[in-house]
Amino acid sequence: MSTKNAYMDTIGRKLAALAAGFLLTAGLAASTAALAGDKSKYEVDGRKSGYLYSNPETQAIEDDDFANGGMLWVEKGAELWKKVDGKAGKSCASCHGDAEKSMKGVYTVYPKYVKKLGKLENLEQRINRCRTEKMKAKPWKWDKDNLLAMATYIGYLSRGMPMNVKIDGPAAPFFEKGKEFFFKRRGQLDMSCKHCHIDNAGKHIRADLLSEGRGGGAFPAYRLKWQKVGSLHRRFKGCNKNIRAQPYKQGADEYVNLELFVKWRSRGLPVEVPAVRR
Ligand code: HEC
Ligand code: HEC
Repeated sequence: MSTKNAYMDTIGRKLAALAAGFLLTAGLAASTAALAGDKSKYEVDGRKSGYLYSNPETQAIEDDDFANGGMLWVEKGAELWKKVDGKAGKSCASCHGDAEKSMKGVYTVYPKYVKKLGKLENLEQRINRCRTEKMKAKPWKWDKDNLLAMATYIGYLSRGMPMNVKIDGPAAPFFEKGKEFFFKRRGQLDMSCKHCHIDNAGKHIRADLLSEGRGGGAFPAYRLKWQKVGSLHRRFKGCNKNIRAQPYKQGADEYVNLELFVKWRSRGLPVEVPAVRR
């Protein structure tokens, strides 16, 4: 057996072990199954959104705003936008006016390099910086309702627009770190993101059909398992834990750099916030 085959074999065995007795089986070719109707927008230059790997029931929920539980967070975000908070006596609207105009497209370009910080900043962090610096209010906590609602609302205002993060110039070294993270083996299972989301995309692991991990336009997403929306960093933590690797905290530099890489892998794919996933 060639080295490459032996290597693939090890990965395959690890996945099979993970799948706890269920063998990896080739899933339905996501493209053929899901592309009936107007689903072609979820594939750009061969890059497929996780939507195309979702089962038809889950897709139907995402397609229907009345069924999509994530819309509750959109509504809450719209309310918070107008709410005065903090010692400066301001609301988001006091400075940014009509969010439908001022925030349109903003989601597609985050994380962004910020000179003052000397590093990347993602959308949740930018929202919190406005709270602390501009409103003199307390930052909102990650994966709690207020921050989720505002990030979901701002994401929703870019729905349908193509993901378009910048990776050159001062963002380049952070992009490289994110890329390194994606390909680095870690955890007790000694696996990288690539092993699941590139090498085994389209195969089943337990009940899940592995996607390409291009969730860049999807989060905060409503997960049926969570029964609420959750951040992309929460998803990263879950993926780290799956292979029994130490997860980082939401908002850690490591995850923000990884987010830039994942969002670049999702370039051109439409914003789906709030996407629905299992
Ligand atoms: C006192 C004025 C003020 C308040 C209040 C304020 N912001 Fe900001 N915000 C700014 C300024 C100034 C910028 C920087 C504009 C720039 O970078 O071009 C900004 C930038 C942003 C950006 C990035 C926009 C982009 O194009 O990259 C987001 C997102 C944002 N604010 C969200 C919020 C939210 C959400 C709230 C309420 C929780 C809020 N802001 C409250 C002044 C404010
Ligand atoms: C053991 C396999 C495995 C590994 C390793 C893994 N993931 Fe995942 N990941 C999953 C499964 C299962 C799901 C849920 C189904 C899907 O979308 O693939 C998922 C979902 C995702 C999603 C959501 C995609 C969407 O559109 O909803 C992203 C983004 C993601 N993973 C990124 C990562 C990153 C980044 C890493 C490396 C830190 C990683 N994953 C490592 C198994 C894995």
